[in-house]
Amino acid sequence: MDDKTGLPPYDAVKGPSWKRAKVRKSRAVRLLAVACIAFIAFAQWKQLKHASTPPASTNPDITAHGLSVERLQQDLATCAKLQSKPEDPAGPGRDRNARYLDGRPTLIRNATVWVGEPADGTSADDARKEKGFSWISADVYLEYGLITRVESAIALAGVSADTLVYDANGRPLTAGIIDMHSHAGAAPLPELDYNEDTNELSSDITPYVRSIDAIKPDDPQLQVIKSGGVTTSLILPGSGNNMGGEAYVIKHAVGKLNGRNETSAADMLADPDRNWRFMKMACGENPKRVYGKTGEHGPTSRMGESWEFRHAFEQAASVVRRQDDWCDTAAALGVENVKGYLPQELRWESLGALLRGQVHLNTHCYTIPDLEAFIDHTNEFKFILRAFHHAHQTYLVPEILKRAYGGDPPASALFADTMWYKSEAYSASEYAGKYLYDNGLTPIYVSDNPVLNAQHVVFEAAKAYKYGLPYHAALASVTTAPAERLGFGKRLGKIKPGFDADVVVWDSDPLSVGAAPAQVWIDGTAQFEDPVELNKPFAEPIVPDERLADIVETPTMMDQVIFTGVKKVFLAKEVLSLDPASGKSYNIVFSKGEIACLGSCEAELKAASKSDEVSVIDLENGYLAESFTAVGSAIGLTEIDAEEDTDNGDDGSGAFSRAQDGLLLDTKKLHTSYNYGATKAITAPKFRGGKTHHGVSVGFATGASTQLEKGAVFAADVAVHYTLDLSAKGGEGTPSLSSAVGALRRKLLEAAATLDETAKDPYSELAFLQKVANGSLPLVVTVHSADIIAALLKVKAAVEETTGSALRLAIIGGAESWLLADELAAADVGVVLAPLLSYATGWDQRRALTGAPLTNGTAVDRLVDAGVATAIGIDEDWLVRDLGLLAGIVFRNGGGRLSEKAALDLVSSNVYKILGLKQPTADDGHFVLFEGSPLEIGSRVKAVGGGKGAVSVFR
Ligand SMILES: *[C@@H]1O[C@H](CO)[C@@H](O)[C@H](O)[C@H]1NC(C)=O
Ligand SMILES: *[C@@H]1O[C@H](CO)[C@@H](O)[C@H](O)[C@H]1NC(C)=O
Ligand SMILES: *[C@@H]1O[C@H](CO)[C@@H](O)[C@H](O)[C@H]1NC(C)=O
Ligand SMILES: *[C@@H]1O[C@H](CO)[C@@H](O)[C@H](O)[C@H]1NC(C)=O
Repeated sequence: MDDKTGLPPYDAVKGPSWKRAKVRKSRAVRLLAVACIAFIAFAQWKQLKHASTPPASTNPDITAHGLSVERLQQDLATCAKLQSKPEDPAGPGRDRNARYLDGRPTLIRNATVWVGEPADGTSADDARKEKGFSWISADVYLEYGLITRVESAIALAGVSADTLVYDANGRPLTAGIIDMHSHAGAAPLPELDYNEDTNELSSDITPYVRSIDAIKPDDPQLQVIKSGGVTTSLILPGSGNNMGGEAYVIKHAVGKLNGRNETSAADMLADPDRNWRFMKMACGENPKRVYGKTGEHGPTSRMGESWEFRHAFEQAASVVRRQDDWCDTAAALGVENVKGYLPQELRWESLGALLRGQVHLNTHCYTIPDLEAFIDHTNEFKFILRAFHHAHQTYLVPEILKRAYGGDPPASALFADTMWYKSEAYSASEYAGKYLYDNGLTPIYVSDNPVLNAQHVVFEAAKAYKYGLPYHAALASVTTAPAERLGFGKRLGKIKPGFDADVVVWDSDPLSVGAAPAQVWIDGTAQFEDPVELNKPFAEPIVPDERLADIVETPTMMDQVIFTGVKKVFLAKEVLSLDPASGKSYNIVFSKGEIACLGSCEAELKAASKSDEVSVIDLENGYLAESFTAVGSAIGLTEIDAEEDTDNGDDGSGAFSRAQDGLLLDTKKLHTSYNYGATKAITAPKFRGGKTHHGVSVGFATGASTQLEKGAVFAADVAVHYTLDLSAKGGEGTPSLSSAVGALRRKLLEAAATLDETAKDPYSELAFLQKVANGSLPLVVTVHSADIIAALLKVKAAVEETTGSALRLAIIGGAESWLLADELAAADVGVVLAPLLSYATGWDQRRALTGAPLTNGTAVDRLVDAGVATAIGIDEDWLVRDLGLLAGIVFRNGGGRLSEKAALDLVSSNVYKILGLKQPTADDGHFVLFEGSPLEIGSRVKAVGGGKGAVSVFR
């Protein structure tokens, strides 16, 4: 081959033997230098020219360079795919939904519809200010898997004769809820070790794995989630490593029962055409903790994580560059003239697609350094991030988010008020959604199922509204906002012709406490054959209360203050109730932390009007109640759950201690608890981890600074606790659950046998168990399984038979306790449900009742009906904010079973009854005053008394 440039020929093997000649060293060095220069020149030339003229080939299937023509053509077709830019799949204009299977049309009559967008002509600015949004009265017609008509009074005469008619009776109708962060199917419930496929931990960088390969369509939780109105979920790989892999958007319709042809993950894909791809990454604490191994492999620090990210992006960018060069060459010279096949590396394929703008990326990042580093990566490697997940600190740094590559800042996928579980979640704020929205950013609420039960993801949005996010933005945060971020903005999230027929008719405003679907449609098919409908009259949707945006984070301590406008009083010693419409109300005077007057209090008001000393605060719909009690978690013994230094530790089965000896007061958790009206807590030492107990509990005031303060400890030793959940198995001497039950029986019988002896150490396990055996101290067992509860009732009977006196037993947990409601009532055993709404997270909770529309009520309803003394506990500390709302769920969904007072008792007096303990009440300076019913979403705390000699006032 003769080349005019004088450069080495393209194919060095065929050319002069300069490469292989045997030469002396000095010459070799010279030659090497020349060769290097020549090579650089060659490389440049190659870039200019790409290819040389091939000699003629005799086989038409093989090019002159010995390559398959067919495969080169395929490669060329791949170029087109590589360089295509997806668009959001079209909604309007379709004749049918690509997911549609044959079925009958449906007419939903007389619904109150939230369309998902403001009225025509509303400017973007006005929409941002909540203008133009409303609930409208309409009928909705579903055909071919699409919403085809949204009109008032659609006449039956004008629709297909085989149309199914559903009467919504005026109830609220929204698009199906979208959960943009779920592991459903990949981590099925109940959790079982070998059935769980959330994280691929063989490497820190696994962009090449796919969550669809892990989805088990028969995960019962997929149905439970749908029963909360969730029709669509983004199934993400976990956050154990920096690049977790590809994610998939599914709909929750599975198999024949849900109107599908097949039981398969592919059949669940929300977009069968797979326009967009999705990917999950994670930064911060998780990858270094879960994946990094000191001395073996990184990352072990955030620095290492950034390197892992950048290195991976560099690999993918290089593949993309080589591919583009190949495609350009093939296009310029003809594919038959290229010298090799299209470079492809499966390992970097999906990441390359991200760099090409074909993948919607969702990244788990909590903290400022993580957010900042990741935004840097987007700019260094020029890719778009759709949302930060967890994102607890995004509200602190809107400007960092706005620096993201592409000019479209990522949304923040959040929990409403779940936090404190690790350092990264310690500085979270329940007001994050509002603050982000105020900064022009987009909050989205997610479940991280099974972290939260996605069935209730709409409750996250409801709480966001409570914490100041405007009402319509809160509804958007689980409908239109995730739809847009997922690239489904033209198909999902709205009730408009052309959108997918994923529809929910709710029994009450979806942002109200306890809202549940009456029916759910996916692709036009009703999903529940015989849904349980709660007896719950619906009047009208919530009237958004803009005052919720007036956030007062820090209360003022006040010596003297008067509140007017109190309509209801729910105290242990008196219950007063006025019709809110009557115009009448009570006044309350707080003085030195006590209720000095309740009634008309004319003298005090008169005096106040003449003095600047005493503030008078007017309420519209004041509720005065006994303050709440937090029980069931480790509050008061731990601050940041995952940080050992901030935690009292676990006793396990080897130790036995008193919680009072480890009290950790004056913490952020306790301040929050106090500010939300939970001024008292009863906490036992932990057994193994946060939801388990072992030792003696203490009753304490959450507002106390040290346990030496007056009233700080209101009950030194409340009860003796043991745990018989799944963690009970595996300790020294208790390798099995049967041995754990047996060990407890043995201890109790031993104590019963020594009742007439005085234990040497009055604080020993034996001494406390003697009090249990003679009935003077309750035994409280943390247990969920109905089988173990049954065994426990026999233990109780066995001990009582030897002592002849009643053993006071109570249960914490109780997911399956409803199965033994009558037996528990007969044995006088109380239950502290923790959590209130169990779902089948563990094998021992698999029979938890998840409520309407799947089950008629939940555990609390069955227990109350059977006459079991029942209280609401919390299994995680962040729930301290939600005690009123949890009682509200029971009230709203109880079909009149409980009065407002009885519902509030679930989080105040009942636990004292169960434990046989005197309740510190308003008479002891413990109370809470709300604007609005504490059982409703729009309520907020206005004043708290917690035995501190002054009241905390939010004004
Ligand atoms: C719609 O439902 C409401 C509530 O049941 C009822 O009062 C109203 O009459 C219904 N309207 C029509 C048109 O059926
Ligand atoms: C569903 O199954 C029916 C019957 O087997 C078949 O005719 C139809 O083509 C299938 N539809 C889809 C979308 O797979
Ligand atoms: C649910 O159970 C209650 C009794 O607890 C019963 O009165 C009611 O009829 C049941 N509802 C349904 C829909 O089965
Ligand atoms: C139970 O035992 C404890 C400790 O032995 C003792 O102080 C208490 O008085 C006993 N109570 C009853 C009711 O026997």
